This record gives sequence, structure tokens and C-alpha cells, in this order.
Amino acid sequence: GKGLAVFTSGGDSQGMNAAVRACVRMAIYLGCKAYFIREGYQGMVDGGDNIVEANWASVSSIIHRGGTVIGSARCAEFRERAGRLKAAFNLIQKGISNLVVIGGDGSLTGANCFRNEWSGLLDELLESKKITPEQRKKFDVLHIVGMVGSIDNDFCGTDMTIGTDSALHRIIEAIDAIVSTAYSHQRTFIMEVMGRHCGYLALVAGLSSEADYIFIPENPPRADWPDRLCQQLSQERNAGQRLNIIIVAEGAIDREGNPITAEDVKKVVVDKLQQDTRITVLGHVQRGGNPSAFDRVLGCRMGAEATLALMEATSDSVPCVVSLDGNQAVRVPLMECVERTKEVAQAMAEKNWELAVKLRGRS
Ligand code: F6P
Repeated sequence: GKGLAVFTSGGDSQGMNAAVRACVRMAIYLGCKAYFIREGYQGMVDGGDNIVEANWASVSSIIHRGGTVIGSARCAEFRERAGRLKAAFNLIQKGISNLVVIGGDGSLTGANCFRNEWSGLLDELLESKKITPEQRKKFDVLHIVGMVGSIDNDFCGTDMTIGTDSALHRIIEAIDAIVSTAYSHQRTFIMEVMGRHCGYLALVAGLSSEADYIFIPENPPRADWPDRLCQQLSQERNAGQRLNIIIVAEGAIDREGNPITAEDVKKVVVDKLQQDTRITVLGHVQRGGNPSAFDRVLGCRMGAEATLALMEATSDSVPCVVSLDGNQAVRVPLMECVERTKEVAQAMAEKNWELAVKLRGRS
């Protein structure tokens, strides 16, 4: 059967293991040889023990584990042609020309470049007699399929990225814990949450925890935000609340594009309202721990569909990302998603907040 390899790349996220498991098991079910590539692109470049055959049992008991058991890395070598040449050689040695990449947009774009370059890389390997003419012919095309694993939910083309739901569970658990101590001391807490340039985690965490104010990058507040914030906080206290919760996305900015940090917000609250205020930065706790049921099932469905997509790929088919559309697993052209994701970044760079919000909504 065909040789298929799965790897995880970039930041880890909960549910990646479920995706790896489903991908491997569907491949075995279809009569293919399935491989893990450990440590992302680095393992592909280094080869050897990093590319190992997987069997049914090797993906047992991983569905409930957080992170990625096969490791992940950010790899500088793969950005260079020499690194990709090594990677191509290592894959051919194992009979692999089908790849499933689980990662963010950078990792998926990297896979697409590799695919486009593949033919040239094989020609070079053939010329230097590292591969045989038979191998050159047999592995003529590199087929790739992507899945988006990220807690940020910052990728256009899928309703939810693998890991977002679990990160939200972590965040609201933390907020609930903070609320009890904030209540006791009548304090205001400013919680900084992850998400890079995307405000999804902050927005949904804020809505589901009854936060008083939320700062997100896609919808920066007007210049008079300090007054509006204080008005809101005072209103809540006057209505009898003993605490306030403010959520700040780590990428929060003002309308000039300057960062708004938890410290900035604290200064306003302390200076203007003299409230007893603390900051909690949740950090990597959000990316840790067991995946939620949603992320496990999402990973399973995506993984199985990714393998099916690869097995159906032909030399002229367009590489796709397996994504969630409503409650359906669908295949979307990879580069279309990457382009749309870039459009959001572009809109934000141009301070076109209305468009940024609209594009995010569409994704
Ligand atoms: O993309 C996931 C993410 O957790 C972001 O939310 C955050 O900005 C970043 O990764 C942190 O990166 P690192 O794990 O390298 O510190």
C-alpha cells in the first residue's frame, strides 16, 4: 500500500493526538503503511529514528492526552532548500509521498511550498544518485493534506481549529476560580489570555464568564476607552457587584495599532477608581491539559477525513485543508484558506477594523 506520514508542527494544541490517531488508524484500515514523523519538520530533516512506522496499538491511549505525543518544533533548517532536500531524501527512503500536516498557517504554507518544489528536489537527488530512476518515477508527486491545530482559532476556512475548545475550558475554569477570591476581597481582576493576533479566546471567554469588559485586536476601543471602562466598572459596583473581571487578549491594541496591555488597563483602574486590582496572566496553562470531548471528536473526524482525502488525491488535485463547516468535515483548498487568513492580517495592518471583524466572522 501507499506510505503516509503524519506530523505536528508549530505550537501544540489539545486534540492533536486524536487527529494523529484517527489518521494512522484510517490509513491502516485502508491498507496503507502509516508513519509518524517526530518533532515536526525537524524530524523530517533529521530522518533516522524520527520517522517511524506506526501500528494500531501505537496510537492507543493517546486520545485523552494533551499536547502532541509525537512532538512538535519550529524548524529553521526546513526554511532552507538544503533542509528540504534532506527531508525529501528521508521520505523517499521510507517510501513516503503522502503527508498529513497538523499545524497553523505557517506550517501548512511550508508544506505547500515543499509540494511545489518536490519535483525539482527529486531531480537533484537523482542527479547526485541518492535515489534511483525507479524511485524518482514512483514518488513523482508529493500529496499533502492539512489540519489546523491551534488554540487561537485564527485560521480562515474552518469554524473551529483543533484545541480552541479545550483552551476555552481552561480559561473559564481559571476565571471561575478567580471570581471566588475576587468576590471575597471586592477586587478587580484583569485576565490576559492567549490568541496571538486573534481575539476569539478573549471574546468567547468573556461572554461565557460574564466579564465586564473585553479588549480584542479586531475591534480596538475608541480613544476614550479609559472613561468608558471606568463607567462600566462603576456601574456594576453601584448595582451591588463585589468584583469586576476584565479580559485582555494578548494581542489587544488601540485604534492607532499600539498594544493595550493588562498593565495599561490596571493603571487606568487604579488611578481613576482606586480599585484594588490584580493581574492574572494565564499563559501556557491554556494550551495544557486534556482535550475536551469536542476537540477529541473534532480531531478524530478531521484525521479520518485527512487520510481519505490523501488516498483520493491525484497528481492534479489541489492540496486541501480538512476543516469544520457547521457540523460537517469538509475539504477546502489550502492556499485559499491561507490567502483569506492573510487578508485578515492585511485588514488589521491597514486599521480597517470593520473589514477585519467581517472577515473573521466569515471564517
Ligand atoms: O499559537 C498558539 C500560542 O499559544 C499563542 O496563543 C501564543 O501567542 C503563542 O502560541 C505562544 O508561543 P510559545 O509557546 O512559543 O511561547
